[in-house]
Amino acid sequence: MKIAVVGTGYVGLVTGTCFAETGNHVTCVDIDKSKIDKLNSGTVTIYEPGLEKLFLRNQKESRLFFITSLKEGIKDAQIIFLALPTPPGEDGSADLKYILSVANELGNLINKDDFKVIIDKSTVPVGTADKVKAALLNNGATENSFAVVSNPEFLREGVAVDDFMKPDRVVIGTENEKAKKILLDLYAPFVRQGNPIIFMDEKSAELTKYAANAFLATKISFMNEIAQLCEKFGADVDLVRKGIGSDERIGKRFLFPGIGYGGSCFPKDVQALASSSTEVNYSFKILDAVMEVNKIKNSI
Ligand SMILES: NC(=O)c1ccc[n+]([C@@H]2O[C@H](COP(=O)([O-])OP(=O)(O)OC[C@H]3O[C@@H](n4cnc5c(N)ncnc54)[C@H](O)[C@@H]3O)[C@@H](O)[C@H]2O)c1
Repeated sequence: MKIAVVGTGYVGLVTGTCFAETGNHVTCVDIDKSKIDKLNSGTVTIYEPGLEKLFLRNQKESRLFFITSLKEGIKDAQIIFLALPTPPGEDGSADLKYILSVANELGNLINKDDFKVIIDKSTVPVGTADKVKAALLNNGATENSFAVVSNPEFLREGVAVDDFMKPDRVVIGTENEKAKKILLDLYAPFVRQGNPIIFMDEKSAELTKYAANAFLATKISFMNEIAQLCEKFGADVDLVRKGIGSDERIGKRFLFPGIGYGGSCFPKDVQALASSSTEVNYSFKILDAVMEVNKIKNSI
């Protein structure tokens, strides 16, 4: 299949390389010319174990290309992944300016005889697929020439290639039958071991990604609260962790007390979910406490 990946940062580069590795023809697009020049000269712009080998092999075998022109990049692509930044805005909500500006451009570029599957791979608030669709329609694309799909990414930095090649699950949010069939074919090599592709509507898929990150952040803040109690009672938090982590219903991961959650995703995604909740007049009390506990840990 011919694929375009728009945004060649962390997620875009892993996505593009892994789809090329399964035999697809992938063109990655980025506005950052120096990044595209480096990638074209065979330099991988992020460090991720195992990525360079796949990158070089697929580039050599002419399945992986890098370009700055969106028009050229998407021309023959049946599937277009948007792997663009969604940084926090001033109020903590996810800023959709990168996604929507590319959606506006795509509206102009899609012909009425095309059928392109446009996929939000970025972490985006509930309702973004509708906004992307509206942007495409407002800029000249016709209703039957595309489908907008939410396909959130769950990879972990450090083991991103493995996570992408052998995902626990693939979440696909679309009710468009043509898009479903195309994505079933695209993901078939990644789910051979019986790991599921879970189809759902766009909004549920968008919320699934935030719910996953918010839940993991909750585990971390919860364990930090337990650590406080351990100190007061004279109990050993490491033993408590082992004691609860061996319960399969709880699981061992994300139970280590420490300085709180950080990195490029958890703080912004937890904040964005809290902000989305406020927009629909829902007071997400647990999430407020999770952020408060984390703020205290971060400031110690
Ligand atoms: N990094 C992770 O571990 C991770 C995991 C899962 C999901 N996500 C989500 O995926 C999305 C992308 O994250 P990332 O870490 O890959 O971001 P990133 O900042 O590494 O990369 C984004 C890329 O988009 C490019 N870009 C910006 N505007 C563009 C435009 N108009 N056209 C083409 N390219 C453009 C930038 O130059 C940059 O190279 C975010 O929503 C993030 O929350 C990230």
